[in-house]
Amino acid sequence: MANIVIIGTQWGDEGKGKIVDLLAEFCDVVVRFQGGNNAGHTMVINGEQFISHLIPSGILQGKKCYIGNGVIIDPRVLLDEINQLTRRGISVTSSLLKISEKAHVIMPYHSLIDQMRENQSEKSKIGTTGRGIGPCYEDKAARTGIRMIDLIDSSVFIDKCTTLIQEKNKYLNCFFSCHPINATEVIEKYTTYAKQLSPFVENISILLDRDIKSGKQILFEGAQGTHLDIDHGTYPYVTSSNTVSGNACSGSGIGPKHITGVLGIAKAYTTRVGSGPFPTELKNDIGDYIQKKGAEFGATTGRKRRCGWIDIVLLRNAIRLNGITGLVITKLDVLGGLDQIQICTAYEYQDSVMYDFPAHMGVLSACQPVCETLPGWKEDIGGITNYNMLPEAVKVYLKRLETLCQVPIEIISVGPQRDQTIMLNNPF
Ligand code: GDP
Ligand code: IMO
Ligand code: MG
Repeated sequence: MANIVIIGTQWGDEGKGKIVDLLAEFCDVVVRFQGGNNAGHTMVINGEQFISHLIPSGILQGKKCYIGNGVIIDPRVLLDEINQLTRRGISVTSSLLKISEKAHVIMPYHSLIDQMRENQSEKSKIGTTGRGIGPCYEDKAARTGIRMIDLIDSSVFIDKCTTLIQEKNKYLNCFFSCHPINATEVIEKYTTYAKQLSPFVENISILLDRDIKSGKQILFEGAQGTHLDIDHGTYPYVTSSNTVSGNACSGSGIGPKHITGVLGIAKAYTTRVGSGPFPTELKNDIGDYIQKKGAEFGATTGRKRRCGWIDIVLLRNAIRLNGITGLVITKLDVLGGLDQIQICTAYEYQDSVMYDFPAHMGVLSACQPVCETLPGWKEDIGGITNYNMLPEAVKVYLKRLETLCQVPIEIISVGPQRDQTIMLNNPF
């Protein structure tokens, strides 16, 4: 029996959606445990693209999907996602999808505050997705948030919502000169959302306990990436949840003894969307080549992703922080066509060489990558599903990554489709 956590090792968008969809075939339940609709996980099935923001990526394989207590839910986005999938012939009934009663709800003032703060000045901009993620987690920590269980109890909801909107209106007006939010309109809208979502609301911890006791295999689907983690990421250029594997337990309500493995997803290069230091960023033709060939546009906001070489300092940091037991290298096909490929193995800072990821953003911004250069390959590897058929230069690159990371590569992805995969070791 295996229960596996899937984690992004970089700054998100590593291809987690594709790998979760692929592995969902072998498990019984897929669980989201943190983040919200800042996530955009892409799956391509028979040429048809699906992007999930809140619903776990196991839904296309017809698996049970749980949204844990650590996730924050914009009810309108969730309902849109359910309706869109249903229109496309994917079943999203309340027997398949379950939402934690303890998950917090994103309210209209959360997104508004997020966007107003971001519009204030270039200097303080984090480059958020504008979905209200930070302000919603703030209210959760302040113990004033609204949970799903509150949303579906109209008297609790009306009471909490009325008080909160009064407070938020004062803040919005005072700092951003915003027009007040109309509490009656919000209550009306959210009451209709509550009616539609109440059949999905459950105690996920109890469901998972039952599943585990009956031998079901669980896949935990991380969102964002290790370096966007609120504690361990490039603070303050991070998201507002713990994205590391440890949070799979607290964000879903199980104990750590049930986790049997942690798969770290790493792109064969690095991308970042939003602001913040990025030591291996390529602001040149090679960066543009990777951005175009890899179609590196955000799945949630459509923003261009910044691109750079793979960064082993970053990967080793992720391996330690998450207890990664196996690596998945994605988008390897995108590097094809380059004469040479670089791997960043350390950072140079002032007169010293650093092998550990620094916490100080000033230091990180001043770090220069120390790189090894390897030969590139010209072949299109998008159709290769057998490791032995890969060009020699690709194998050399992969072997070097494995040696530097000291963790086995278990899956290699060479295209967005399910069958564009080399499975060396199925964790289930
Ligand atoms: P996620 O947020 O980690 O799920 O990743 P995104 O879906 O935001 O971004 C990954 C993008 O790369 C999506 O458009 C995927 O369809 C695509 N993709 C995933 N794996 C591969 C791959 O191996 N090769 C190529 N070319 N595209 C891939
Ligand atoms: P997936 O799950 C990439 C980034 C934003 C911004 C920072 C804070 O698809 O990998 P937020 O809206 O969370 O307050 O924004 O985090 N960010 C992501 N970047 N992939 C994601 O999710 C992200 N979710 C948030 O761009 O820099
Ligand atoms: Mg994404």
